[in-house]
Amino acid sequence: MDVTDLQVFPLHKHPQYLEACCEMINEEWPRSRTARMLSLTASCDKLPTSLILIDSKFSLLGHAKLTCLPSIPNSCFLETVVITKTMRGKKLGTFLMREIEIYCKNILKLEMIHLSTKGQEQFYSKLGYELCPPVSIYGNPMNISKTDLLSSEKVLPQENSCIPPPPPMPKPQSITSSNIKSNKTYMFKYL
Ligand SMILES: CC(C)(COP(=O)(O)OP(=O)(O)OC[C@H]1O[C@@H](n2cnc3c(N)ncnc32)[C@H](O)[C@@H]1OP(=O)(O)O)[C@@H](O)C(=O)NCCC(=O)NCCS
Repeated sequence: MDVTDLQVFPLHKHPQYLEACCEMINEEWPRSRTARMLSLTASCDKLPTSLILIDSKFSLLGHAKLTCLPSIPNSCFLETVVITKTMRGKKLGTFLMREIEIYCKNILKLEMIHLSTKGQEQFYSKLGYELCPPVSIYGNPMNISKTDLLSSEKVLPQENSCIPPPPPMPKPQSITSSNIKSNKTYMFKYL
Protein backbone atom coordinates (compact mmCIF):
# COMPACT_ATOMS: atom_id res chain seq x y z
CA MET A 1 0.00 0.00 0.00
CA ASP A 2 1.23 3.48 -0.94
CA VAL A 3 1.94 5.48 2.21
CA THR A 4 0.54 8.61 0.53
CA ASP A 5 -2.88 6.93 0.87
CA LEU A 6 -2.49 6.77 4.65
CA GLN A 7 -3.21 9.33 7.33
CA VAL A 8 -3.02 9.37 11.12
CA PHE A 9 -5.50 11.51 13.09
CA PRO A 10 -6.45 12.02 16.73
CA LEU A 11 -9.68 10.04 17.25
CA HIS A 12 -11.42 12.90 19.08
CA LYS A 13 -11.15 15.04 15.92
CA HIS A 14 -12.96 12.29 13.96
CA PRO A 15 -15.53 10.79 16.37
CA GLN A 16 -17.32 9.06 13.48
CA TYR A 17 -14.63 6.32 13.87
CA LEU A 18 -15.45 5.63 17.55
CA GLU A 19 -17.68 2.62 16.90
CA ALA A 20 -15.34 1.02 14.33
CA CYS A 21 -12.39 1.61 16.63
CA CYS A 22 -14.18 0.02 19.56
CA GLU A 23 -14.96 -3.06 17.45
CA MET A 24 -11.43 -3.38 16.05
CA ILE A 25 -9.79 -3.16 19.48
CA ASN A 26 -12.34 -5.45 21.13
CA GLU A 27 -11.73 -8.06 18.46
CA GLU A 28 -8.12 -8.20 19.63
CA TRP A 29 -8.62 -7.62 23.37
CA PRO A 30 -12.25 -8.41 24.29
CA ARG A 31 -13.66 -6.01 26.89
CA SER A 32 -17.09 -4.54 27.59
CA ARG A 33 -18.22 -2.07 24.96
CA THR A 34 -18.98 0.49 27.68
CA ALA A 35 -15.49 0.29 29.18
CA ARG A 36 -13.85 0.46 25.76
CA MET A 37 -15.96 3.44 24.67
CA LEU A 38 -15.16 5.22 27.94
CA SER A 39 -11.47 4.78 27.24
CA LEU A 40 -11.80 5.93 23.61
CA THR A 41 -13.97 8.97 24.35
CA ALA A 42 -11.35 10.16 26.87
CA SER A 43 -9.09 11.05 23.94
CA CYS A 44 -8.15 14.74 23.94
CA ASP A 45 -5.48 17.20 22.75
CA LYS A 46 -3.37 16.63 25.88
CA LEU A 47 -3.21 13.04 27.17
CA PRO A 48 -4.72 10.47 26.83
CA THR A 49 -4.85 10.61 23.03
CA SER A 50 -6.06 7.89 20.71
CA LEU A 51 -4.53 8.07 17.23
CA ILE A 52 -6.16 6.30 14.31
CA LEU A 53 -4.81 5.15 10.95
CA ILE A 54 -7.10 5.77 7.96
CA ASP A 55 -6.70 4.93 4.26
CA SER A 56 -7.77 6.95 1.20
CA LYS A 57 -11.19 5.28 1.26
CA PHE A 58 -11.65 6.47 4.85
CA SER A 59 -11.47 2.93 6.22
CA LEU A 60 -10.09 2.47 9.72
CA LEU A 61 -6.86 0.43 9.63
CA GLY A 62 -5.26 0.94 13.02
CA HIS A 63 -5.22 2.52 16.46
CA ALA A 64 -2.82 3.41 19.25
CA LYS A 65 -3.33 5.18 22.55
CA LEU A 66 -0.89 7.53 24.29
CA THR A 67 -1.30 7.98 28.01
CA CYS A 68 0.37 10.13 30.63
CA LEU A 69 3.43 8.73 32.40
CA PRO A 70 3.65 10.74 35.65
CA SER A 71 6.90 9.08 36.74
CA ILE A 72 8.65 10.20 33.51
CA PRO A 73 7.11 13.56 32.54
CA ASN A 74 9.07 13.95 29.26
CA SER A 75 7.70 10.60 28.05
CA CYS A 76 4.31 8.98 27.51
CA PHE A 77 3.06 5.40 27.62
CA LEU A 78 1.97 3.83 24.34
CA GLU A 79 -0.71 1.14 24.50
CA THR A 80 -3.42 -0.63 22.49
CA VAL A 81 -1.37 -0.56 19.26
CA VAL A 82 -3.37 -2.54 16.75
CA ILE A 83 -3.68 -2.98 12.99
CA THR A 84 -6.92 -4.46 11.68
CA LYS A 85 -6.50 -8.24 11.31
CA THR A 86 -6.74 -8.51 7.51
CA MET A 87 -4.13 -5.77 6.92
CA ARG A 88 -1.24 -7.00 9.09
CA GLY A 89 2.23 -7.67 7.69
CA LYS A 90 1.98 -4.81 5.14
CA LYS A 91 4.11 -2.28 7.07
CA LEU A 92 1.04 -0.41 8.30
CA GLY A 93 2.15 -0.92 11.91
CA THR A 94 5.52 0.57 11.01
CA PHE A 95 3.83 3.58 9.36
CA LEU A 96 1.54 4.11 12.36
CA MET A 97 4.46 3.94 14.82
CA ARG A 98 6.51 6.47 12.80
CA GLU A 99 3.56 8.88 12.75
CA ILE A 100 3.02 8.38 16.49
CA GLU A 101 6.65 9.29 17.13
CA ILE A 102 6.35 12.47 15.01
CA TYR A 103 3.14 13.39 16.89
CA CYS A 104 4.79 12.84 20.27
CA LYS A 105 7.85 14.88 19.35
CA ASN A 106 6.27 17.75 17.40
CA ILE A 107 2.83 18.14 18.93
CA LEU A 108 3.20 16.84 22.48
CA LYS A 109 6.85 18.01 22.75
CA LEU A 110 7.93 14.73 24.37
CA GLU A 111 11.42 13.25 24.28
CA MET A 112 10.67 9.56 24.81
CA ILE A 113 8.01 6.89 24.38
CA HIS A 114 7.62 3.95 26.77
CA LEU A 115 5.54 0.83 26.19
CA SER A 116 5.09 -2.73 27.37
CA THR A 117 4.49 -5.83 25.30
CA LYS A 118 4.26 -9.57 25.47
CA GLY A 119 5.04 -11.10 22.10
CA GLN A 120 5.67 -8.08 19.89
CA GLU A 121 9.22 -7.33 21.12
CA GLN A 122 10.71 -7.89 17.66
CA PHE A 123 8.27 -5.51 15.99
CA TYR A 124 9.24 -2.73 18.40
CA SER A 125 12.94 -3.53 18.41
CA LYS A 126 12.98 -3.21 14.58
CA LEU A 127 11.61 0.29 15.12
CA GLY A 128 14.47 1.17 17.50
CA TYR A 129 12.84 0.47 20.88
CA GLU A 130 15.16 -0.82 23.59
CA LEU A 131 14.53 -2.84 26.72
CA CYS A 132 14.10 -0.92 29.98
CA PRO A 133 12.99 -1.66 33.55
CA PRO A 134 9.22 -1.66 34.19
CA VAL A 135 7.77 1.82 34.60
CA SER A 136 4.77 2.80 36.69
CA ILE A 137 1.90 4.30 34.72
CA TYR A 138 0.32 5.54 37.97
CA GLY A 139 1.15 7.95 40.71
CA ASN A 140 3.88 10.37 41.47
CA PRO A 141 7.11 11.45 39.83
CA MET A 142 9.03 9.46 42.44
CA ASN A 143 8.54 5.77 43.01
CA ILE A 144 8.69 5.31 46.80
CA SER A 145 9.02 1.67 47.83
CA LYS A 146 7.55 0.13 50.97
CA THR A 147 11.08 -0.35 52.34
CA ASP A 148 11.82 3.35 51.82
CA LEU A 149 8.66 4.25 53.74
CA LEU A 150 9.43 1.85 56.59
CA SER A 151 12.99 3.10 56.93
CA SER A 152 11.66 6.68 57.04
CA GLU A 153 9.23 5.74 59.80
CA LYS A 154 12.06 4.36 61.92
CA VAL A 155 13.74 7.74 62.12
CA LEU A 156 10.67 9.80 62.98
CA PRO A 157 11.38 12.01 66.03
CA GLN A 158 10.15 10.63 69.36
CA GLU A 159 8.15 12.71 71.81
CA ASN A 160 10.26 15.07 73.96
CA SER A 161 13.46 14.18 72.16
CA CYS A 162 15.67 16.61 70.32
CA ILE A 163 14.55 16.87 66.74
CA PRO A 164 16.91 14.71 64.68
CA PRO A 165 17.87 15.63 61.13
CA PRO A 166 15.22 14.71 58.57
CA PRO A 167 15.37 11.22 57.06
CA PRO A 168 17.18 10.89 53.72
CA MET A 169 15.01 11.40 50.67
CA PRO A 170 14.11 8.20 48.85
CA LYS A 171 16.17 7.71 45.70
CA PRO A 172 14.35 8.63 42.46
CA GLN A 173 13.72 5.71 40.12
CA SER A 174 16.56 5.40 37.66
CA ILE A 175 16.51 3.94 34.16
CA THR A 176 18.49 0.93 35.33
CA SER A 177 16.42 -0.12 38.34
CA SER A 178 12.78 -0.54 39.23
CA ASN A 179 10.85 -2.24 42.00
CA ILE A 180 7.79 -2.87 39.81
CA LYS A 181 7.21 -6.56 39.10
CA SER A 182 5.77 -7.44 35.69
CA ASN A 183 5.72 -10.37 33.28
CA LYS A 184 5.69 -7.96 30.34
CA THR A 185 8.66 -6.61 28.44
CA TYR A 186 9.09 -2.86 28.88
CA MET A 187 10.70 -0.89 26.08
CA PHE A 188 11.45 2.76 25.32
CA LYS A 189 12.82 4.97 22.61
CA TYR A 190 14.38 8.43 22.57
CA LEU A 191 12.65 10.57 19.92
C1 LIG B 1 1.95 -5.73 16.14
C2 LIG B 1 1.26 -5.10 14.94
C3 LIG B 1 0.74 -3.72 15.32
C4 LIG B 1 2.31 -4.97 13.81
O1 LIG B 1 1.71 -4.33 12.72
P1 LIG B 1 2.02 -4.84 11.22
O2 LIG B 1 1.46 -3.84 10.28
O3 LIG B 1 1.54 -6.22 11.07
O4 LIG B 1 3.62 -4.82 11.23
P2 LIG B 1 4.61 -4.42 10.04
O5 LIG B 1 4.13 -5.03 8.76
O6 LIG B 1 4.82 -2.94 10.02
O7 LIG B 1 5.95 -5.16 10.54
C5 LIG B 1 7.19 -4.52 10.67
C6 LIG B 1 8.24 -5.56 10.97
O8 LIG B 1 7.95 -6.15 12.24
C7 LIG B 1 7.84 -7.56 12.11
N1 LIG B 1 6.80 -8.04 13.01
C8 LIG B 1 5.54 -7.61 13.11
N2 LIG B 1 4.89 -8.30 14.06
C9 LIG B 1 5.79 -9.17 14.56
C10 LIG B 1 5.72 -10.18 15.56
N3 LIG B 1 4.61 -10.42 16.25
N4 LIG B 1 6.83 -10.91 15.83
C11 LIG B 1 7.97 -10.70 15.12
N5 LIG B 1 8.09 -9.76 14.16
C12 LIG B 1 7.00 -9.02 13.89
C13 LIG B 1 7.47 -7.79 10.66
O9 LIG B 1 7.84 -9.08 10.23
C14 LIG B 1 8.27 -6.71 9.96
O10 LIG B 1 9.62 -7.12 9.83
P3 LIG B 1 10.52 -6.69 8.54
O11 LIG B 1 10.61 -5.18 8.59
O12 LIG B 1 11.82 -7.37 8.76
O13 LIG B 1 9.77 -7.17 7.35
C15 LIG B 1 0.09 -5.99 14.40
O14 LIG B 1 0.59 -7.25 14.07
C16 LIG B 1 -1.05 -6.17 15.39
O15 LIG B 1 -2.00 -5.38 15.38
N6 LIG B 1 -0.99 -7.22 16.24
C17 LIG B 1 -2.05 -7.52 17.20
C18 LIG B 1 -2.12 -6.53 18.33
C19 LIG B 1 -0.83 -6.46 19.11
O16 LIG B 1 -0.29 -7.46 19.54
N7 LIG B 1 -0.37 -5.21 19.31
C20 LIG B 1 0.84 -4.93 20.05
C21 LIG B 1 0.52 -4.73 21.48
S1 LIG B 1 1.99 -4.49 22.43
